[in-house]
Amino acid sequence: MREIISVHGGRRLSGTVAVDGSKNSALACLAAACLVTDGEPVVLENVPAISDVAVMCDIIRELGKDVTVSDGKICVSGDFLNSDVPKALAGKIRGSMYFLGVLAAAAGEFHCGFPGGDQIGERPIDIHLAGLQKMGVDCEVCDGIVEGKVSGTLTGCRIYLRYPSVGATCNMMLAASRAAGRTVIENAAREPEIVDLGNLLSAMGVRVSGAGTDRITVTGTESVRGGISYEIIADRIEAGMFAIATAICGGSVRLDNIIPYHSFPLISLLCECGVTVEEDDNSIVVISDGRLQPFKVEMMPFPGVATDLQPAVAVMASCTQGGISTITDLVFQNRFQYIEELKHMGARIEHMGNKLEIRGGLRLHGCRIHGGDIRAVSALLLAGLSAEGETQIEGVEHLRRGYPQIDAKFRELGADVAILKLAE
Ligand code: UD1
Repeated sequence: MREIISVHGGRRLSGTVAVDGSKNSALACLAAACLVTDGEPVVLENVPAISDVAVMCDIIRELGKDVTVSDGKICVSGDFLNSDVPKALAGKIRGSMYFLGVLAAAAGEFHCGFPGGDQIGERPIDIHLAGLQKMGVDCEVCDGIVEGKVSGTLTGCRIYLRYPSVGATCNMMLAASRAAGRTVIENAAREPEIVDLGNLLSAMGVRVSGAGTDRITVTGTESVRGGISYEIIADRIEAGMFAIATAICGGSVRLDNIIPYHSFPLISLLCECGVTVEEDDNSIVVISDGRLQPFKVEMMPFPGVATDLQPAVAVMASCTQGGISTITDLVFQNRFQYIEELKHMGARIEHMGNKLEIRGGLRLHGCRIHGGDIRAVSALLLAGLSAEGETQIEGVEHLRRGYPQIDAKFRELGADVAILKLAE
């Protein structure tokens, strides 16, 4: 059986959608839960039921710990029995990168398959390795395996990241939690998921300050405590996707369980395009007549508009009333594989380096297309919602990596979306 997403476009959206917990936070926090020294369990709440989280849990089990999953909660307990992250599991998700920092701190060594994740351009780990090396880990990459061994004691120090990488910032925080002394991370990433990780580590007894700024200080401790429950923040990328869907389709949708500040960069772009956004403490209402103005935007590290939303924003540019919109991605150089698929649907896109020029004023039309990564396939779903006729999208497995129940959530809002099983 083969699965496709079938979308019949042209419906307005209305109602309320509850946004799930953040994928990227969940992956970092699950890694942090492995750092306890007192053997007590760590329970994470509001964890999204997605396949990337399932893979992360499989890796933790492979390392010897117990993981139980029930109703949005994940409990991590027990001890590490080994420090080998199998290549096949590590290659499935980007979050496997966090076991470099965790295992260096908890086991003094690691043998980890090279981290995988979306194919969106080169994704080196040199910043991670340079930081770990500075803390006293001898690292090398050999045959797709990242190997590291602490020589002497893992020691806190001052680390300057040459780029504010989200993953490297988290990895340094994880390693620093159990290192001797104080680690200062300069040019740290400022994403909300980093603040979430910092809050969890603090709840586990690690002294963390400055998370959310470009200088984070972590004071390592020999006693990282479990016996806590911690609720993960809402997924600002999922929230962004529903907000953009409403902007494109027209209608009025309330996004519940979110932190509006985390979506502020996108909200401000939507307002520029002519959309009304009403904010409350934990929700926003997006109201659109579907008539959008062209725009210019750069996808940047937080507090810029998230690069993960670049494909969805490109769909929005195709749905403007007319004129040219420009999108520049300053984070990843090749998050553009979805463009050819949008062109099949009638989009007019010029692609130059990391910049797109997209013409509005054309109605997309449904056809058979393929999404090659999480954010691409969700953006193509949005394209389908706005298109004339039926759009059939391959790549359901990518959708399941990042969004829980997305088809059901869209149906609740009045969209005609279904995941169909087809005979091969
Ligand atoms: C994380 C997110 C991803 C998001 C990205 C940027 C997870 C699981 N994934 O990915 O959804 O799109 O942040 O917000 O949380 N770089 C290097 N060397 C390194 C590390 C990164 O050159 O050692 C470069 C990358 O190639 C990229 C840029 O830095 O061009 C940003 O990458 P980074 O912030 O590290 O992204 P990830 O942590 O992999």
